Amino acid sequence: MDKQVKRIGILTSGGDAPGMNAAIRAVVRTAISHGIECVGIRRGWNGLINSDFIPMTASSVSHIINKGGTMLYTARSLEFMERSGREKALATCRLLGLDGIVSIGGDGTFRGALALSRQAAEEGLTLQTVGIPATIDNDIGCSHYTIGFDTACNTAIECIDKLRDTMQSHERCSVVEVMGRHAGYLALYVGLSVGATAVLIPEHPLDFEQDIVEKIRRARLAGSTHYMIVVAEGAGSAVDISRRIHDEVGLDPRVTVLGHIQRGGIPSARDRETASRMGYRAVMSLLEGRGNRVVVTQDGRITDLDMEEALQMVKPFPLERYQILDSLSFIRG
Ligand code: F6P
Repeated sequence: MDKQVKRIGILTSGGDAPGMNAAIRAVVRTAISHGIECVGIRRGWNGLINSDFIPMTASSVSHIINKGGTMLYTARSLEFMERSGREKALATCRLLGLDGIVSIGGDGTFRGALALSRQAAEEGLTLQTVGIPATIDNDIGCSHYTIGFDTACNTAIECIDKLRDTMQSHERCSVVEVMGRHAGYLALYVGLSVGATAVLIPEHPLDFEQDIVEKIRRARLAGSTHYMIVVAEGAGSAVDISRRIHDEVGLDPRVTVLGHIQRGGIPSARDRETASRMGYRAVMSLLEGRGNRVVVTQDGRITDLDMEEALQMVKPFPLERYQILDSLSFIRG
């Protein structure tokens, strides 16, 4: 019988995402309701290295479900990637008597959790870890959905709807850069939702003539007098794309880089509800003796997978939505 988990740490790591607070709240409330004590580790894995932590009670997480950002702060930790850094982290785990850690973040966060758990085991310490996927990029291979994606999409859509008003008035071309360092999930979802003329994503190598010039030409023939180009930052720079449109199409585009505004804001219902269910599942995984897991959504269901297997998983990019966008933008008049 596995040793019953009695005290867990919780942390957020990597780029923040709206809904992280809802996940923190769910983990803390579920743990406490099952007799498990909670310690908030601040500033990601650095919090373990630097003994930067706070006790978490049921009231510590009151009134945060509807707040963007993370009450535990977040950071990326280079020191934690070194064995010596994780040694310092383990010393804090021993000091606090932690036998479990819930980490909320992306792939890198989970790789750190797995490395820490393995290093702990080498030293005879049992440290069970569970990851909760949270990134606005939605680019974690093991989970259909990651906390923050829906809120970020809605933020971008609201901004682009505003841009469309002025682009329509001035009969202009707008080039909008959205986040997605290595992935086009956000750009494609937003592009489809705003009726973009074209969407550029890293998963589809750019053919400027076909992907931009031809689409603007067809839209113009269909009667459009303004054009909306959505660019994932991982597919290129909106400024460069705009310059090429100017030089090769003869338009005078206006560039908007949405940047970090997509990372903030009041979490949407989907993000709050998903985060709450994921946080609950993370604690139940530990209670039921399943350590080194990642909580994921699969077709709307919440489940948990072996962390090592989860980190090797790749999810197919929905390129068929690219064809849908192509058709819909074609008939747009
Ligand atoms: O990983 C989420 C993300 O928002 C990416 O889309 C973006 O490129 C990156 O984080 C920005 O990182 P930082 O906040 O460190 O500038």
